Amino acid sequence: MHERTTAANTAILVSLDFGAPDYVESLEELHLLAESAGIQTLALVEGRRQRPDASLFAGSGKVDEIAALVEQHQVPLVVFNHDLSPAQMRNLTAKIKTRVIDRTMLILDIFALRAQSHEGKVQVELAQLKYLSTRLVGMNTDMGQQKYAVGARGPGETQLELDRRKLDKRVQMLQDRLEKLARQREVMRRARNRSDVFSVSIVGYTNAGKSTLFNRLTQSHVYVADQLFATLDTTSRKMFIEGAGQQEGDAAGIGSPSAYSLRVQVVLSDTVGFIRHLPHGLVAAFRSTLEETAQADLLLHVVDANSPERFDQITEVNKVLQEIEAQHIPQILVFNKIDLQGLPAGVQRDEYGRIARIHLSAKTGAGMDELRMALAEMRDARPHAVSRQEWHPLNNELN
Ligand code: GTP
Repeated sequence: MHERTTAANTAILVSLDFGAPDYVESLEELHLLAESAGIQTLALVEGRRQRPDASLFAGSGKVDEIAALVEQHQVPLVVFNHDLSPAQMRNLTAKIKTRVIDRTMLILDIFALRAQSHEGKVQVELAQLKYLSTRLVGMNTDMGQQKYAVGARGPGETQLELDRRKLDKRVQMLQDRLEKLARQREVMRRARNRSDVFSVSIVGYTNAGKSTLFNRLTQSHVYVADQLFATLDTTSRKMFIEGAGQQEGDAAGIGSPSAYSLRVQVVLSDTVGFIRHLPHGLVAAFRSTLEETAQADLLLHVVDANSPERFDQITEVNKVLQEIEAQHIPQILVFNKIDLQGLPAGVQRDEYGRIARIHLSAKTGAGMDELRMALAEMRDARPHAVSRQEWHPLNNELN
């Protein structure tokens, strides 16, 4: 008798090495992604190829190997660490006789799990429907009993059974709703711009420690987890930095020189984490959330200083920033997690004396004072810095 492992969250992971330099990292990320989606990995099937097979992506021998494992253990899900074409997905599903999803679908699934806000949910559903609509034929096999399985989750799941006409209508409706939400967001942002608040967005590779830093700076309790995409919706909070510019304030003779009158008001936003091979469509889907980032005065680009991949991760994040036209916004690189290496906290400046990099630990708090001072300095240095008059104690109460 065959051993039966039929839990809906059990999966076989498949990863093929085509000689890409970041193969090992992408494989590590596959494991993290799977874990974040609540998958229990039964086996990892690896292979090496020159290029993907046009019809099955993997070689037919490899596909037979996967099919045998699926049959032996009754595995409900196979996850490919790659993007599959609709035809490949159809052919694989027919051969392996179980549900097959690709890397993008896995990411979308995690997004579906994590989305909290109305806008976040609409964005995920839209991205799911757009991605899945071309793959519906292959997916319809035997999906009924796996409704809540990984890869079939989220607001899009019930829509999968709709016919294409209804599906197109739903996509249009979601798009309209998203535009409306984006307009509302724009109005809020304009109001904020008028009040001339310094807005700072935290960006960074997934798991770099953005939420931990956000919590530390705002003393709030945004969900922190050793999982990918723990933060999906943009969360914004006001914060104040005490004591910045005290000397100048005194010299300008504005009221009594209390620390209160010299607080710097900052709106800080925590955003979705970025990851390599983030599908283009997904970035587009999250555009309206990321617009917050595109409009920021300053980006805190959080880097996991302990990761051997940190420089590649910086490049990947910068690519996404370029895609959302945020590449021109001043950035401070925040090298986080220095506690893991026992490194000292500190600020590094570029040749013009501008703050370029801060080493800190969001977990222990080392380097946080330096970061707060850096924020105050960057705010004072921005082109449209608020005039001191507006920071009079009485005006301060307005925002
Ligand atoms: P996503 O939402 O996935 O993009 O993650 P994130 O960048 O918001 O990371 P998060 O703050 O959730 O932290 C990820 C993991 O790193 C958690 O386990 C944190 O406890 C850990 N972490 C964050 N900052 C530090 C740090 O300074 N030192 C150490 N040792 N761990 C940290």
